[in-house]
Amino acid sequence: MINKITSLAEYFQKYQESVADPEGFWGKIAESHHWHKKWDRVVDWRFSGPGAPDVKWFVNGKLNITENIFERNMFLRKNQVAIIWEPNDPKEPVIKLTYGELFDKVKQFANGLLKLGVKRGDRVAIYLPMVPELAIAMLACARIGAIHSIVFAGFSATALADRVNDATSNVVITSDGGYRGTKSIPLKGIVDEAVAKCPSVKNVIVLKHTNEEINFVNGRDVWWHDLINGVSTENIAEVMDAEDILFILYTSGSTGKPKGVVHTTAGYMVYAEYTFKNVFQYSDGDIFWCTADIGWVTGHSYIVYGPLLTGATTIMFEGVPTWPDAGRFWETIDKHKVTQFYTAPTAIRALMAQGDNWVSNHNLSSLKVLGTVGEPINEEAWRWYHALVGKGKCPIVDTWWQTETGGIMITPLAGITPTKPSLATLPLPGVQPILVDPEGKELKGNGVEGILCIKFPWPGMLRTTYGDHPRCFQTYFSAFPNLYLTGDGAKRDEEGYYRIIGRIDDVINVSGHRIGTAEVEDAINQHPKVIESAVVGYPHDIKGSGIYAYVICEDLTDAELKTIENEIRETVNKFIGAIAKPDKIQIVSGLPKTRSGKIMRRILRKIGEGDATNLGDTSTLLDPGVVDEIIDGAKVAVKR
Ligand code: PRX
Repeated sequence: MINKITSLAEYFQKYQESVADPEGFWGKIAESHHWHKKWDRVVDWRFSGPGAPDVKWFVNGKLNITENIFERNMFLRKNQVAIIWEPNDPKEPVIKLTYGELFDKVKQFANGLLKLGVKRGDRVAIYLPMVPELAIAMLACARIGAIHSIVFAGFSATALADRVNDATSNVVITSDGGYRGTKSIPLKGIVDEAVAKCPSVKNVIVLKHTNEEINFVNGRDVWWHDLINGVSTENIAEVMDAEDILFILYTSGSTGKPKGVVHTTAGYMVYAEYTFKNVFQYSDGDIFWCTADIGWVTGHSYIVYGPLLTGATTIMFEGVPTWPDAGRFWETIDKHKVTQFYTAPTAIRALMAQGDNWVSNHNLSSLKVLGTVGEPINEEAWRWYHALVGKGKCPIVDTWWQTETGGIMITPLAGITPTKPSLATLPLPGVQPILVDPEGKELKGNGVEGILCIKFPWPGMLRTTYGDHPRCFQTYFSAFPNLYLTGDGAKRDEEGYYRIIGRIDDVINVSGHRIGTAEVEDAINQHPKVIESAVVGYPHDIKGSGIYAYVICEDLTDAELKTIENEIRETVNKFIGAIAKPDKIQIVSGLPKTRSGKIMRRILRKIGEGDATNLGDTSTLLDPGVVDEIIDGAKVAVKR
C-alpha cells in the first residue's frame, strides 16, 4: 500500500526527500507493488545526447500492471465494487462490478484476444463509448502484454484511420453504436469506413450495445459475445518488462499529424497510483468520479489505472452533463454518494450558465473533494464550484498535467495544501518544475513568469512518440538543453505557487481538448474551394478558447458564399471530428504574411480577440492592406 501524505509539513518534507534522493524516494513507493523481479536501478536517464531522450524507470524490473490491480487487491477487495457504471439514460439500470467480477471479465476477454491471435506487443485500437467493456478491453490488453491505443469515439473515420495506421494496429475493438444524450452514434459504420484504409487490421471486435443494425464483415468481424462464449476465466498474466509499452495515446501538437505518446508499464503504474491517492486523498469507502472520457489521458489515469491500482470504487459515466437536464452531474453525485468529483472547467462554466437551481435541488452532502483539469479555471468558475457545489467545505484541487506527463504534476493535495482560486499551487513530490525565459535562462525566485519546463524525470513521463523517436526529442527536449518543454507558460507567485497561463505554441485548448491549429488548417484546406487558411484561438466564455478560422477561397458565387461556412465545418468534422469544428469562419482575400511568407498569427489572434487597436510591429508585413480588410470583416464575423 502506498502511504498518503497527511499534512503540509509532511508534504514539504517528502518534497525535499524526492529532490535530494529521487531513487530512494520512488524506490520506497514502488516497494508496495507486486514484482516478479525487482529493478536493478530506480532511474536511468538522459534528456540530451545521441538517441535522447533515454529514460528508464525501475530498470529490468518485471511485472504485470493488472496483477497490481487484481491479484494484489483481491484478498481485501474481491467483493468490493470496482466500477460503477452510470448509463446515458438514468432510467436504465446501473451496472456495478466488484473487483472479483471485473477480474473474471478481464481474464476472459484476455483469453478471447489470445484466441484471436493477439500477441504481446501487438497494438490494439479501441474505439468504444463509455461502457464497462472499454475498461475491460484495456485491462485485457495489459494482461496479455498487448499495447492499447484508445481513440476517443468522437473522432471521425479519417482521424481513426490515421491513428490505426500510425500504430499499425491489427485489431480494432468497437461497438455497434454509442449514445450521447438523445443521439445514437453509429460507431461500427465509422470503423468500417476507417478500416477500409487500414491494411494492418485483421479483425474488428464488435460489442453489442445499442442493438442497431450493422454491416457485419464475415471473416474480419467478430462479436464480442461470441469471442468470449465458453472461454475460461483463468488466465496467467504475461510478465512484462518495466519499460515495455503499456499504451499509446495520440495527442495534438503545433505541427503535423497527432503524435502517439508512449507510456511504459512500471513508471506509469507507480505514478498513476501515487498521484491518485495523494491528490484526491482517497480513503477506503470513498466513491470517486472523474467525468472525463477514457479516450483522453485523464480517463486512462483517473478513471481506470489510478483508482483501480488503489483498490478504489470508480464511476464510469456514459452520458452528457446536460441530458436529460442540466442537473445530471449533481443528480448522479447524489445517486451514488460521490465523495471526490473531478471535472473540467468548461463543464463547470457551462453548468454555471444554466443557473444555480440545478445544483441546489440535489443533495451534495457526500462530497469531500472537488477537482478540475484540462485548462486554466477562471476565478468566477472556481468560486461558483467552491461555494455552490462544494458548499464552501470541499477543497478544490486544480490539477495541471498533460497527456505526456501521464499523471498530475502541479496541484494542491486535497485538504492539505492551502488553495487560491485559479492556481495549481505546488509541484507534487518528485516533480521539479523550472521557469525559463525564451533564451532558456532560468527565472529564479518568486514573482516571475516564463516558460514552464521540468528538469528531472518523473516515473509517469512519456518515453517516446510512437514510431518516431526524433520527433519526441524535437518536440519536447530540443528547445532548451536538458529540460522537458511543457508548451505552457506559467507564473510563480510571491508564495511560490504556480498559475498556469496557457499554451505558448500553436495549440488551442478548446473545452479542455488540445487541438493543433495546423491540423485544423490541413482539414479546412481539404475543401475543394479553399486555397489557404489560418486558424487561431480566441477567448470563449464556455469553451475557454474557441476556434477562429480565416480562410481564403477561390472565387465564390453568392450562392456558394452562403453555404461555404457550413461546408468548411463539415469538412473539419469529416477529417478530425466535431470537437475541432471552427466556431468562427471569416472568408478573407489574403492573410497577413511576412516577406518570407510566414503567417503572422499574432495579428490574427489579436483581431480574433477583438483587440485590433494594438497590433504591435507590423513593419515586416508584405501587404499591410490585408490587415485592414480582415479587421473590417472581423467585425461582421464577431457579431454573428
Ligand atoms: O495547457 C495545459 C492544459 O492542458 C494541456 C494538456 O492537455 P492534454 O494533454 O490534453 O491533457 C489534458 C488533461 C491532463 C496543458 O499543456 N492544462 C491541463 N491542466 C490544466 C491546464 N491548464 C491550466 N490548468 C490546469 N489545471
